[in-house]
Amino acid sequence: MAARKDKILVIGASGQIGVELTLALRKIYGNAQVIASDLREENPLLKDTGPYVSLDVMNKEMLHVQVIRQNITQIYLLAAMLSATGEKNPHLAWHLNMQGLLNVLDIAREEQLHKVYWPSSIAVFGPTSPKQSCPQQTIIEPTTVYGISKYAGEFWCNYYHTRFGIDVRSLRYPGLISYKSLPGGGTTDYAVEIYQEALVNGSYKCYLKPDTYLPMMYMPDALRATLELMEAPAQALSVRTSYNIAGMSFSPTEIAASIQKYLPDFSIQYQADYRQAIAESWPQSIDDAVANADWGWKPAFDLDKMTVDMLTHHPENKGRKIH
Ligand code: NAD
Ligand code: SER
Repeated sequence: MAARKDKILVIGASGQIGVELTLALRKIYGNAQVIASDLREENPLLKDTGPYVSLDVMNKEMLHVQVIRQNITQIYLLAAMLSATGEKNPHLAWHLNMQGLLNVLDIAREEQLHKVYWPSSIAVFGPTSPKQSCPQQTIIEPTTVYGISKYAGEFWCNYYHTRFGIDVRSLRYPGLISYKSLPGGGTTDYAVEIYQEALVNGSYKCYLKPDTYLPMMYMPDALRATLELMEAPAQALSVRTSYNIAGMSFSPTEIAASIQKYLPDFSIQYQADYRQAIAESWPQSIDDAVANADWGWKPAFDLDKMTVDMLTHHPENKGRKIH
């Protein structure tokens, strides 16, 4: 198959998604065909699984040299500053999230890369978007710098596709939950921390209010969605900004109750901080009918199924039986 001959560069490979996506791509394409890269050091989970280069996506020349030297044909761009950290450094977030993407799109055009993947986020939506089953096309007025940068990025992707024919594809990920690599400063990170704290301390202090519902997704679903989108025939894709995808929606009260089914002594306390306002600006659930119609997207994990898997495989489990 021609696609398997592709040589892939993952930028931001040491991050929460990057580690697992790099490993998943290496399974499909072969270890040597997937170059992991990041500004920070190689994540220990990637060590000895394939090539790694140190790379700053903001340094366009260095990036261009790597793309030529390594005969890269596809780029997965994961380097970004997320919502909570972005509010502390708005200009830096805008600069990294925009210039990083433009550098990649320009090089994709100059080197005629086969495909580019760049994730957007449910953070594109704002307080005026529908709260429930937020559709693909609706009012979109983001209030975080992260959301503004993602929405602008979506239109840059669409522009490079229509103007220059770049096959760039994108998903609006919900909050992602995983146990392998730690999250990097998002508003949804509580839903990762809570499992770790439940296993280590038996309690968790949550920075969101108990009834704050947000769209979420377990990492295996997010990886599968990414790979399925990238494998879909180009003519099937009607969205070249970014696809809505849904997994599940829950509140801190509900995820705590799910954990208590398996760890009955677990307790949760609440102390809301600045992230509450960010969470309240986003929809509570997402309508992904277009992704389903175009390339067959369907999530596999609900809250309890994820909880069992997280608690069972989490590195802090230490041999506990979860059932
Ligand atoms: P992360 O913060 O865990 O990882 C990002 C990685 O990029 C880090 O390893 C960081 O060192 C690297 N990086 C930062 N600046 C860089 C630079 N200048 N050059 C090269 N590498 C650099 O983020 P993540 O959660 O893995 O997110 C990956 C992508 O998915 C981002 O675009 C993010 O907006 C998007 N996304 C994530 C979530 C989520 O819940 N994790 C949800 C929606 C969208
Ligand atoms: N998980 C991300 C965040 O909270 C959503 O894009 O920033």
